Amino acid sequence: MKIGIHESKGSFSKRWIAYCERLSIQYKIVDCYASDIVQQLSDCDALMWHFHQENYRDTLFAKQLIASVEAMGKKAFPDIRTCWHFDDKVGQKYLLEAINAPLVPTYIFYDSRDAYNWIKQAEFPKVFKLKVGAGSTNVRLVKSEKEARRLVKIAFSNGFPVFDRWNNLRERYRKVKEGKDDFMGILKKDLVVFLSSQDSKMGHPQKGYLYFQDFIEGNDSDTRIIVIGDKAFAMKRLVRKGDFRASGSGNFKYEKEEFDERCIKIAFETTEKIKAQCVAYDFVFDQSGNPLILEISYGFKIKVYDPCTGYWDKDMNWYPGNFIPQEWMVELMVKNLK
Ligand SMILES: Nc1ncnc2c1ncn2[C@@H]1O[C@H](COP(=O)(O)OP(=O)(O)OP(=O)(O)O)[C@@H](O)[C@H]1O
Ligand SMILES: [Mg+2]
Repeated sequence: MKIGIHESKGSFSKRWIAYCERLSIQYKIVDCYASDIVQQLSDCDALMWHFHQENYRDTLFAKQLIASVEAMGKKAFPDIRTCWHFDDKVGQKYLLEAINAPLVPTYIFYDSRDAYNWIKQAEFPKVFKLKVGAGSTNVRLVKSEKEARRLVKIAFSNGFPVFDRWNNLRERYRKVKEGKDDFMGILKKDLVVFLSSQDSKMGHPQKGYLYFQDFIEGNDSDTRIIVIGDKAFAMKRLVRKGDFRASGSGNFKYEKEEFDERCIKIAFETTEKIKAQCVAYDFVFDQSGNPLILEISYGFKIKVYDPCTGYWDKDMNWYPGNFIPQEWMVELMVKNLK
């Protein structure tokens, strides 16, 4: 048994490789960007690739390559059931509705007339989102009909940029003010953004659709539950000051008491229905205290989950202590290949 691993900086691959080394699991480094990637995989039983939504090359072909690897009879992480809806909130709307998962009521329009008609009778505020993006960058509150109508005009003309430089700068400034970053950090990261701005330049403006969700008021945090195989772990993300958005705030809570077990159960059940290997869920609670899903994702940041205080199994037993979720991904592959 041999796993082909695509190695990339800042991705899960470092921990996958360390685990393979430690357990003497056979692996080979492959290059998914090479034209002969299919040949490279000929002596492998599986491909593991942590592709990323901010890398324009990955978004061009990762899902297609993974579907092709599966067509070769090989395994993949993520597999297609796990990733076809990644960084695609529109796809997630249909999927979560199709399996009766408790998704926040979500609306999509592909036509300006339909959008205007809906806006006329909708209650505001609503949450507007692009289908792509993370860290709350493409998520905003729309307070009035007028504001919503302005969005229709943009959506069906020039579209929305995927990468908003001003918003990015504002976020950096906030992080410095809250002591979560320093000016050197800003300089380093912004320099990287400007020097490697190919990713932002290559991204197409988002247009031709409008996506809204009901605004679920009164949440001072969102609850992120990540299921990998038959294990789940959790993190709470607090909203930014004077804002409704939690993701990307940099403020976290990890204690077991912070989590409503209904979220963990829903996450396990939904993952089973999707038949996915790994799914991160964002939950908020409605006025009656019911958990609702905002969105899902197979990928997640790495270091912010290291302080997690333990994990649950499917029977809701709790296992306190540290763990490395990326190792569970390799274990899934090994189990599948036996
Ligand atoms: N419908 C909603 N009602 C209330 N709050 C919401 C709603 N949608 C999003 N939020 C808040 O905004 C944040 C960002 O939204 P969402 O998770 O959809 O976007 P994202 O940028 O894809 O995030 P992530 O980094 O988790 O992938 C959430 O963490 C949540 O706090
Ligand atoms: Mg989110």
